[in-house]
Amino acid sequence: METQYFTLNPDPDSDAEATSLAIAAAARAIQMGGLVAFPTETVYGLGANATDAEAVAKIYVAKQRALNDPLIVHCALDAAALRAPADALARQEIAGVLSAQQRERVVALVQRFWPGPLTLVLPRGARIPPNVTAGLDSVAVRMPDHAVALALIRASDVPIAAPSANRFGHVSPTTAQHVRDDLDGRIDMVLDGGATAIGVESTVLDLTQDPPAILRPGGLARAEIERVIGSVGAGEQGSRGEGEKGREGEEAAQVSPGLLSKHYAPRARLRVVRDTAELLRQRSHAAAQGLRVGLLVMASQREACAGLMPQYVLGQDLASVARNLYAGLRALDSAGVDVILVSEVERAGIGEAIADRLRRGAA
Ligand code: TXA
Ligand code: MG
Repeated sequence: METQYFTLNPDPDSDAEATSLAIAAAARAIQMGGLVAFPTETVYGLGANATDAEAVAKIYVAKQRALNDPLIVHCALDAAALRAPADALARQEIAGVLSAQQRERVVALVQRFWPGPLTLVLPRGARIPPNVTAGLDSVAVRMPDHAVALALIRASDVPIAAPSANRFGHVSPTTAQHVRDDLDGRIDMVLDGGATAIGVESTVLDLTQDPPAILRPGGLARAEIERVIGSVGAGEQGSRGEGEKGREGEEAAQVSPGLLSKHYAPRARLRVVRDTAELLRQRSHAAAQGLRVGLLVMASQREACAGLMPQYVLGQDLASVARNLYAGLRALDSAGVDVILVSEVERAGIGEAIADRLRRGAA
């Protein structure tokens, strides 16, 4: 199939007509059971009508994703629904019946963090077919904080199931070019809204457990969530991450399969080192063995790493590192390096998600 590309100017006033034509074409594609890649504030998603099992099945084929890896349902609540989100999600039959405690948590979290990089795992509603959730009776839901994503969901008039728009096992795409590199010719359309702002995926919080558990650290920091609902668990992550070798799909019955340790791996070997001295030492060592080495460097390491090519500068603070990480991994992969070296980051705030992706990428 030929993939259509639409470039959307992020400034909503710039070319309103072209934008609304592109959104209308994309919404038609969704309604007809097609696949549309679209930007969110975290990473690009590969969307299909979440209420259409046949459309959803195409996502797994296009991505070559294992069928036991559940998708996130993206919704766009209006102002009234955002004030009473538990009722709205139940009315739309995205979520099923919630306990009083779950309702309370949904209301508090949604009012504080939606639209935004927080995915909530809730009991599954009747309108969501089982292949969205890989047969689980829970469903992951979020409302993305991106004008293009919200316009697409609203124009489609259905919730949109969307995993990250990459081939299974690759790092998530943060630009439309990344999507093209992975999925050109396999999907109907790509809406290009520029580079994504956050750069790592949403935080997945399981509200079917008590206390709730973070299944995947992401764009919203643990501390922010805990300020609203009190302390949350780490979920299955600890046990799942340890020494696990399987590629995606090798295991059945996933709790949160995005947690498989190789999930975020680049093609080159990724090594996370303690500090700049160790980075330089390992670089010389690998180079001496005839390996091509790429560096992901923090702004503060530029001087120490001057002239050591190829290198990709991640930036100054943790937010910049998160925003640039996947582009850096893809760029060094394309440069054909054998080894990628990067220093570990502080695990505070979004640093927890960065450290998680680095650890999985290096597994
Ligand atoms: O930021 C994001 O979350 C991006 C954008 C496109 O929204 N989406 C994304 O989707 O990262 P994906 O499919 O790559 O990751 C979905 C994660 C996986 O870790 C999956 O296991 C988990 O959500 N998940 C989905 N449904 C679940 C469920 N019912 N129970 C537990 N985990 C679930
Ligand atoms: Mg993904």
